[in-house]
Amino acid sequence: MAKVLITGGAGFIASNVADKMIELGHSVVIVDDLSSGFEYNINPKAKFYKMDIRDPKLKEVFAKEKPDYVCHHAAQMDVRKSVEDPMFDADVNIKAVCM
Ligand SMILES: NC(=O)c1ccc[n+]([C@@H]2O[C@H](COP(=O)([O-])OP(=O)(O)OC[C@H]3O[C@@H](n4cnc5c(N)ncnc54)[C@H](O)[C@@H]3O)[C@@H](O)[C@H]2O)c1
Repeated sequence: MAKVLITGGAGFIASNVADKMIELGHSVVIVDDLSSGFEYNINPKAKFYKMDIRDPKLKEVFAKEKPDYVCHHAAQMDVRKSVEDPMFDADVNIKAVCM
């Protein structure tokens, strides 16, 4: 069985991915800042870090948890917001992944 770190695990898509992985017997760690997701979506068997994926402390989570896999779903996905503030959109959706 694997340890999987799932970003955006309080959101629509990734909370379902997390539920399935737990059902299959994998160990799940979720990182989500709850900016658009909900705590009630988080599977109680998952370990949860309320954290922005742009936070430099994310490195400490990786060092501690040592996941076998990362399943990345955290995203700013409001199209209106991306048009209003494209730099914020790029910061979350592009830059954060390159850190
Ligand atoms: N919903 C769909 O039909 C659909 C279809 C295809 C692809 N997708 C993609 O799947 C991904 C997830 O979509 P969703 O519908 O689950 O959206 P969602 O808003 O429900 O989930 C996104 C999650 O990411 C979290 N998040 C946002 N910014 C964050 C940050 N900086 N740090 C940490 N967590 C952060 C939010 O709190 C939320 O829980 C997106 O990339 C989206 O484009 C969604």
